[in-house]
This record gives sequence, structure tokens and C-alpha cells, in this order.
Amino acid sequence: MKKNFITDLKRSHYCGELTKKEIGKTVIIMGWVKRVRDHGQIIFVDVRDKTGYTQVIFESDFLKNKECSIQQVGMESVVAIQGRVRQRPTDMINFENPTGEVELVAEHYTVLSLAKTLPFLIDDSSVSESLALKYRYLGLRSSRLQKYLKLSHDVYQVIRQQLSNKKFIEVATPILYKATPEGARDFLVPSRQYPGSVYALAQSPQILKQLLMVGGVDRYFQLARCFRDEDLRSDRQPEFTQIDLEMSFASEKEIRDISEHLVQILWRKFKNQNITNIPYLSYHTAKMEYGTDKPDLRNPLKLKDLSKVVKDSGWRIFEQVLEEQGAVYALALPLAKRDISITRVKKLSEEVKELGLGGMLWIKRDASGKQKSSAGRKVDPALLKSWCTFASGLQVLNEPYIVFILAGEVSHVQSTGQFLINTLGQEQDLIDKTGLDQFVWIGEFPLLKYDINNETWDACHHPFVAPNEEDAELLLNQNLKERELKAQAYDLVCNGQELASGSVRIHQLEMQQAVFQALSMKPEEIKQKFGFFLEALEYGAPPHAGIAWGMERLLMLLTGTKYIRDVLPFPKTASGVCLMSSTPSAPDPNQFLSLGITTIQDKKSFK
Ligand code: AMO
Repeated sequence: MKKNFITDLKRSHYCGELTKKEIGKTVIIMGWVKRVRDHGQIIFVDVRDKTGYTQVIFESDFLKNKECSIQQVGMESVVAIQGRVRQRPTDMINFENPTGEVELVAEHYTVLSLAKTLPFLIDDSSVSESLALKYRYLGLRSSRLQKYLKLSHDVYQVIRQQLSNKKFIEVATPILYKATPEGARDFLVPSRQYPGSVYALAQSPQILKQLLMVGGVDRYFQLARCFRDEDLRSDRQPEFTQIDLEMSFASEKEIRDISEHLVQILWRKFKNQNITNIPYLSYHTAKMEYGTDKPDLRNPLKLKDLSKVVKDSGWRIFEQVLEEQGAVYALALPLAKRDISITRVKKLSEEVKELGLGGMLWIKRDASGKQKSSAGRKVDPALLKSWCTFASGLQVLNEPYIVFILAGEVSHVQSTGQFLINTLGQEQDLIDKTGLDQFVWIGEFPLLKYDINNETWDACHHPFVAPNEEDAELLLNQNLKERELKAQAYDLVCNGQELASGSVRIHQLEMQQAVFQALSMKPEEIKQKFGFFLEALEYGAPPHAGIAWGMERLLMLLTGTKYIRDVLPFPKTASGVCLMSSTPSAPDPNQFLSLGITTIQDKKSFK
């Protein structure tokens, strides 16, 4: 193909920058061919870069003189075009495009790189995930992903600025490290120099940031890469970034205040929302009212504890559940705006059974006051009515309502309650997605949870979380069953998603040892895993507290996307694979050899 060369190939403007101000000027733009429309005498070519696109006109004179073959240049080929900017005719103005009032009349062009036929169109959002991830670099050219990348950069700058203003300093901690107990499996990196030994990729900088406090850093932050080998979900990736911070001599309140300030700044700047006074719920209240410690406060549905009301009702099933330390909760759904059919209610009862709850009782009161219930005539209608009135929170119930009553083991009742709140919230269109994002702090988490199968205690967060002061003595005496020990831990939840998690830390050796002991760790194991950390606590450790935000989750909330992969340039699939590079992949056998590793396959072939 014969080319027209531009003598001075220096870009003068980005494609999205050409506006009325440039009319009459000669400019050079460079970018990708977004679209070619051949009208015979005239050819329109849209040229795009990260800032947007400009319409370039190849007129008949130019076509005649330059033996132009621009129409043969495939979409997404890279071109440089020199031309004069002119005003578009009034009827050709495209008000949707910031450059839509002008066009560039081509005088010279050159093809810098040809593109072959594309596997999908750049802005096609219906392309399958596997194809999109295989050709991720093409997807990255889309205006949507370009916007997300830019937003991510801007958010980083704001966070760095805000935390620096508050005297936090950015410190990078090692990634090749020792196992860090954040509850996931470690990714291991075999050591070549010490065959049989491994580094673990840091699941978080938890221990290291605490050691920075012992090291007198006082206020630390880091945009820290974290690695976790765990089952992936729509808001989880095996490697992700935390906005990680830690402060010496700080209380829970100070950490929450700093976090709230960041929320205010970010939401004002990037979502134009004024977020003030984030509410607080204890873990137990959240579980009781929403069935989860990550409630979505945009959804108005709430559970009510019906235990006291049904206790001496004579309805044996409920009484028995309560005698066995179970729970009876109710969920009231107003039906004034939108009804629910009995067929749907029966289907919901089946779904609830599949979730493991014995069953659920429902009572529906229609607009005329008629009452229908899954209990039939087995329960006195007046009693049912009183339960409904209590569940609805009204003094007198004279509106259409359906009330679901869930009875059984506490955790089952809560998870079923959460399922009903989510399902009905969506089906009845109750979740307000147009208003402000809804934040909530969840605190007073349990410190430890009992594993009945192994008869051991596990840390609810990680083992460095300080207990509540009134529980400290019980922990030091390993008196773990007297009552549930509470942690000085807090999570920041937004629209039902855990955005950040933190705690006040243990800074005293004795207490840290007590926690390891409670977790049934043997002295040898403690020494091998955390000996260096315990030793540091003997050299003057200041009281400290901190928090870590999930950067990708923050970006998901700021962009409104449901998928974590949208806010990462090169995400992995739900099974942890990079489809573009086919990672993970088998190494060169010599690499295994130099690491002193034989694989199971090798062993089989030896036999
Ligand atoms: P935690 O494990 O709760 O706490 O993590 C803190 C925040 O990190 C985000 N996050 C993730 N994001 C994407 N993919 C993942 N796989 C993933 N796992 C966690 C979440 C979460 O709230 N060291 C403690 C923090 C502290 O106590 O300071 C920690 O890592 O948004």
C-alpha cells in the first residue's frame, strides 16, 4: 500500500481535544481508526485515542491527488493525520461528542500500524467474558475502561494527598514474605537459594505495618498489593490492592474519623454525593436486623425478633425452637404499592427449605383486611394478626402486608432472613439505587469463633485484634466460654459490600501470647511463625490501630460497576486464570530443577 508521509510526525493535539478554539489551525492527531464511512466523493474516518475521537474528512480533491487508500485501512489500525480544523455545517453537528462541532480536513496521513480483523468491536459490551479477557488490550481501548483507568489514577492521587496532609507517610513493605494469617491460602514462591524453603506472597502487610509502628513510623499508609489463594467472587481477585493504614497512639474513633473524612472527600469529588454521619451498628444488631454483617441500608426491609411474642403463645413449634436456644424472626413486607402472589410465596417457601431452614410460616393480609396463612386454621387468626402487627412495627395494622416468620437455629434463621431481604428487596423494587450510597460501620465483632467439628477456637478477623477492655482478663485467663469475647474491630460497609476492615491491635506480649494460646497454637508453632513479631513486642511497642480498604471495591462503588474485573487492567477469571497470557502455566522443567522441585507427575514417571 502506498503511503502519504507526514514530514514532521509530532502529535500536536489529542483526538478528544479539538474544539471550536482550534478552527482554522493545522494540527496533527494520532490514534486508532474507530470507524470508516465511505460516501464515494468523501470519506469520513473517526480517529480515537484515550481522550475521545475526532471526525476526519477525506475530500474528493485529496482523494484524487493523493491516490488515497484510507478506506482500505482496517478498523483499529493506527494512523497519524495532519489536517485543518473547520466548523461543521450546522446540520452535521454532533452535540453528544465534545469534538462534534468541528471536523478535521485531512491534508496528509500515514498508517503507523495495520490491524487485522478484530475478534470483537471495541465498544461491544455483549462480548463473552472469555473473549474479552483473551484480548484485554482491545477492551482497554473502550471509552468505558479508559474512564475507569483514569478514575483509578485520580482516586490514587486524592488518597495520597489526603493521607499525606494528615501526616501519614507512604512506606512500601515486602511482597516476598512469610505467611500472614488473613484466613486465605498463601501463594508460595520456592526459594532457589534455600531448596525446600518458600516465601509466601503477603496476604496483607498486617504484621509489617505493626512492626512499622514498633519502628516509630507513627502514621503509615501504603497502596499495598495483596495476594490470596481463595475462592473468587464478583468482588474478589487473587491479587488486589489495599489502601492500608496504621496509626500509633490512636483509638478506634480516630481511625473511623479519618476513614469517614476520606469517604466524604471521595464521594463528593467522584460521585457528587455529600456523605455525612455514617451510622453504626453492633455486629449482633446487624445480624439480628438484617441477617448479615454487611447490610445494604438502601433496602428498607428489616427482620424483627419475635421470640418474646411467640414464647408463651401455645404454638408448640415455636416454643420448642426457643427452648433449644433457637430464634424466631419475622419479616414484614408492605404490599400497598406492589402485591405478591400466593404462587410466588409458596415458591419462596420451597427456596427457604432448600437453604436448610425447616420451613417458614407466612400470613398475608390483603387490602380488604382478609387474612390468609400457611398455618391454615392451626393457629388462632387473632394470634396471627397480633404477630403481624408486631412484625410490621405499626400500632394497628390496617394496610395490606405479608409477614414471613422464620424459626430454627439462629444462624439458619439469620441467613434465611438475609436471603428473603435481598430477594424481596429486588423483586419488589425496594432498593433505592438513585439516592445516596448507604454506608454503615459494623463493630463489636466477636473476637473468636468456636469450631464445633475440631473443638477449637478461630480468630474472627486475624489474631492481632485487641479484645474489648472488659474481656481482656477472661482472655488472659483462657476463660473463653464464660461469655462471647468481643473484639475492638470495625468494618465499613457500603451498599451491602464490605469496603474496609480494621481494628485496634494487641501491643502487649502477654495478650498476644494469650490469643495464640486460645487458637490452640503450640509454643513451637508460635515461635516458628511469629517469634520475630513477639520479640518486637518486647522492645517497646506503642498502642496502635489501623484499617485497610479494598481499592477495587472502592472503585466498583465509585463507578457503579458490579464486576471487579472492570476496575482492573488485567483481571483473572473466577478460576484464577489470565486468559490473555494463559497464566498459570507449567514452568520450564529446568526452572523446577534449579528450585529443587519434583512434581507428582515426575514421581509417577519415575515408578
Ligand atoms: P481484610 O482481610 O478484611 O483485612 O481486607 C481488607 C479489605 O480488603 C478487601 N479485600 C479484597 N478485595 C478484593 N479481592 C480480595 N480477595 C479481597 N480480600 C479483601 C476488602 C476488605 O475489606 N490486614 C487486615 C486489615 C487491617 O486489620 O488493617 C485485612 O487485610 O475490601
